[in-house]
Amino acid sequence: MNDVSKRIEKRRDSSMLGGGQKRVDAQHSKGKLTARERIDALLDEESFEEWDMFVEHNCRDFGMDSNRVPGDGVITGHGKINGRPVFVYSQDFTVFGGSLSSAHARKICKVMDQAMKVGAPVIGINDSGGARIQEGVASLAGYADVFQRNVLASGVIPQISMIMGPCAGGAVYSPAITDFIFMIRNSSYMFVTGPDVVKTVTHEEVSAEKLGGALTHTSTSGVADLAFENDIEALVQVRRFFDFIPLSNRERPPVQPTNDPVDRLESSLDTLVPHDPNRPYDMFELIYKTVDEHDFFEIQPDYAGNIIIGFGRLGGMPVGVVANQPMVLAGCLDIDSSRKAARFVRFCDCFGIPIITLVDVPGFLPGTSQEYGGIIKHGAKLLFAYAEATVPKLTVITRKAYGGAYDVMSSKHLRGDLNYSWPSAEIAVMGPKGAVEIIFREEIDDPDKIAQRTRDYREKFANPLVASQHGFIDDIIPPHSTRARLCRGLELLVNKKLDNPSKKHDNIPL
Ligand code: HXC
Repeated sequence: MNDVSKRIEKRRDSSMLGGGQKRVDAQHSKGKLTARERIDALLDEESFEEWDMFVEHNCRDFGMDSNRVPGDGVITGHGKINGRPVFVYSQDFTVFGGSLSSAHARKICKVMDQAMKVGAPVIGINDSGGARIQEGVASLAGYADVFQRNVLASGVIPQISMIMGPCAGGAVYSPAITDFIFMIRNSSYMFVTGPDVVKTVTHEEVSAEKLGGALTHTSTSGVADLAFENDIEALVQVRRFFDFIPLSNRERPPVQPTNDPVDRLESSLDTLVPHDPNRPYDMFELIYKTVDEHDFFEIQPDYAGNIIIGFGRLGGMPVGVVANQPMVLAGCLDIDSSRKAARFVRFCDCFGIPIITLVDVPGFLPGTSQEYGGIIKHGAKLLFAYAEATVPKLTVITRKAYGGAYDVMSSKHLRGDLNYSWPSAEIAVMGPKGAVEIIFREEIDDPDKIAQRTRDYREKFANPLVASQHGFIDDIIPPHSTRARLCRGLELLVNKKLDNPSKKHDNIPL
């Protein structure tokens, strides 16, 4: 081996070792994989091609000129997941705490730029102490360069953030812009200001986990989409998730052959909706019995449970499912569920994923906390998202579709392509009881009269016939045929073409 080759190998070895065995052991002792181990678990075997393993920082201050590690704390490159290309970066906490220098940022920007040209998703694995303190403002500039690219890539290529360690300060804003955030329980956290600053400013005492751990962000703030038990589980599940999404907005979603017959009938669904309109039932039953092979990838399962969102397939084609859940808050729309579903609908629309909407919604949640919290603006987000979406939109009303919420939930009026209802559907301005108490207020003290009026109202409006007579419902279908009808509908709509008016961009109520 000549001298140059030896030097190359030495640098390569040094890059492979990261911050050294002691720090690798420390990483393992926290139950965390190293940056390279994470890439190995994420990508298909031997598919990873690393870029920029020789890049070093150019900081001269604070003794940094003699303290360099090739690769500079982030491993970047591309590989495959189940045979499809993906760009990755994985921050190496063993090198300067995975902190972001300008060289580190340039490496991330390089893979993002190439991902945009190629049309492939970017998965970022975040495990970092934030801005490289020795570099100061140069590091802040590096963050902004990444943010700018995140924004330009939004809606062009899917961007997924995995938070697998610290992610604090302004560093949180790159994941925040990406499409999905996945976290690890008890070993990852995200916050704008940490517990010490919180204590100084607000005198609150709170642990890092409670302030910004996976549980907090998947159940309280809704910032993160999923929490996993450990690194391995997260990486395995992201591989599964990857199979539902297209590579870019230039590609169609990946069709996966299935042995599940598209005309499979599910007779058990005929008894899913209880006779008593106030009794809940589990909407998951409909979802699991409808999608291919009962395979449903739920997003944000622990946040705003009154609406369910996630990915499944129908006849092999990925679909986004949005469904009211009568088991939680009677399936009503509120601030959190509207925001949750709106962002999901927009993701599906950006990337050409058809949307299946399963409706059982008694309306918007009343109350001062909702009104003061801005339900008007937040509810409008979901309405806006459905109205602007041009992907195939298929809707099934299983039971209640009342008031404004009926309009919002992918109704015919918001350019729904196929709008079906079950015979049990009640499509009306409001529930019979509420309606009668308003129209016949003068009879309110006569329970017999009110009961009769309620029965009359129910008979007239609390069924799918009136809406069907108007053509707002394309067909009333037996529940057992739901999968078959949706699969057939999707096949019909696969080449749907619909464009919105030309504009710079819209102005969704934020
Ligand atoms: C340089 C850093 C670093 C940083 C950690 N290290 N953070 N080096 N810049 N930001 C180094 C440590 O010196 C240490 O080096 C190694 O990484 C591991 O750090 P430890 O503290 O030993 O690890 P741990 O106890 O697990 O604590 C992790 C930590 C802590 C909580 C992240 O390191 C920490 O508080 N770091 C500083 C966080 C911070 O204030 N960052 C700037 C935020 S402002 P050795 O050589 O000992 O292994 C920001 C703005 C972004 O990020 C703005 C964007 C717009």
